[in-house]
Amino acid sequence: MDKLVIRGGKRISGTIAASGSKNSALPVIAATLLAPDGIFTINRIPDLQDVRTFSQLLEHLGAEISFSENILRVSTSNLRNDEAPYELVKKMRASIYVLGPLLARFGHARVSLPGGCAFGPRPVDLHIMAMEKLGAEITIEKGYIDAKVKGDRLQGTTIDFPISSVGATGNALMAAVTAEGTTVLNNAAAEPEIECLCQFLQAMGANISGIGTMTLVVEGVDRLNAVSFENIFDRIEAGTLLASAAITRGEITVTGVRPSHLDSVLKAFQAAGCIVTSGSDYVSLTAPEKLLATDITANPYPSFPTDMQAQWMALMTQADGTSNIIDKIYHERFNHIPELNRLGAHIDIRENQAVVHGPKALTGTKVMSTDLRASACLVLAGLVACETTEVLRVYHLDRGYERIERKLSALGADIERDRYQEFS
Ligand code: UD1
Repeated sequence: MDKLVIRGGKRISGTIAASGSKNSALPVIAATLLAPDGIFTINRIPDLQDVRTFSQLLEHLGAEISFSENILRVSTSNLRNDEAPYELVKKMRASIYVLGPLLARFGHARVSLPGGCAFGPRPVDLHIMAMEKLGAEITIEKGYIDAKVKGDRLQGTTIDFPISSVGATGNALMAAVTAEGTTVLNNAAAEPEIECLCQFLQAMGANISGIGTMTLVVEGVDRLNAVSFENIFDRIEAGTLLASAAITRGEITVTGVRPSHLDSVLKAFQAAGCIVTSGSDYVSLTAPEKLLATDITANPYPSFPTDMQAQWMALMTQADGTSNIIDKIYHERFNHIPELNRLGAHIDIRENQAVVHGPKALTGTKVMSTDLRASACLVLAGLVACETTEVLRVYHLDRGYERIERKLSALGADIERDRYQEFS
């Protein structure tokens, strides 16, 4: 397996471009299933394990895909299968994104239930509720969702999401764009990745209003076409890179980002004493001498993202004072705490709230990645720890960060990838 070996204490400094967003790339790739002919060309697709796993799933369904230099070309003209098998879905929960488009295109889909994940149960009931509201008959059997359209087409409807869900909003959108009549999605997720999916669907010929808000109105159309499209940049990768400068008392410019997508994160950096400036497509950050303890609560967009919570916790281990970190999306997303404490941090959990007592000098040792963002948190901690930190099981990190060790080395970090053998 691969590990990252980090000799901490180097200051991050320089300019780096953000990669394309993983969380918008996946639903955008799923939406290609909606066009019965033509070839899509999608630019700025990050070269990540999750993208490759998702491409494998589409190939299993019969799509033809080529991927190089961050350009993905897809044709879904000759689909031959409407089943997403357990073997592929278990590798990546986002595989559930094929449910809506397959149902819309074929009137039938069979998708394995994804199962739990490292930070909680993560149900898919809202995806199922949305498909049922749009007129699908759903049975769950032997771990599979079996969905069939009643009649010959999905029907427009009003869907009130009881909680905001990125995945369920994306799935409902993809099912609704070719449904008959009008669909209203209330309490829809307003994350930039959903806005990006809406723009992709619009480019294909869909009719969606309210894009970027929590109420989306879809007028069903008869047909969608293959198009060329540019994916958005990854706000979470950008936030992680900004944190790498903040934690090492460095300075950084991340280019290619849309600063408004990072608003809550930039405000938190400012509250922690960082100097943040931005232009239309870049953000610069200069760390203060002394970081200030800053509380955050992760909530749906535009609030602080849950996908930056672990990285923020790493940063707060170096801040002066006590900071409280709450995750209202995934209450138990705290697998990184024991590992941070092994590096010398002092973090307690009190009733779903992490209390970080800073600043604490960290000392490198071997630590274990448990999920994607927890891994990023450990890399950040390794950058500031004295001696050597080895982050094991970096396959979690590779799911969502494109060559992060190369980016961090280019910015002055002493970090390299190496192989190791795990005892079985
Ligand atoms: C997406 C992101 C993930 C991010 C999360 C929250 C992708 C590929 N992943 O995941 O990185 O951490 O948004 O911003 O884009 N829920 C239900 N029932 C459902 C669906 C969700 O109860 O059917 C709950 C979840 O358990 C969670 C909350 O809704 O508490 C939000 O989850 P959701 O936005 O759906 O997350 P994902 O789309 O899976």
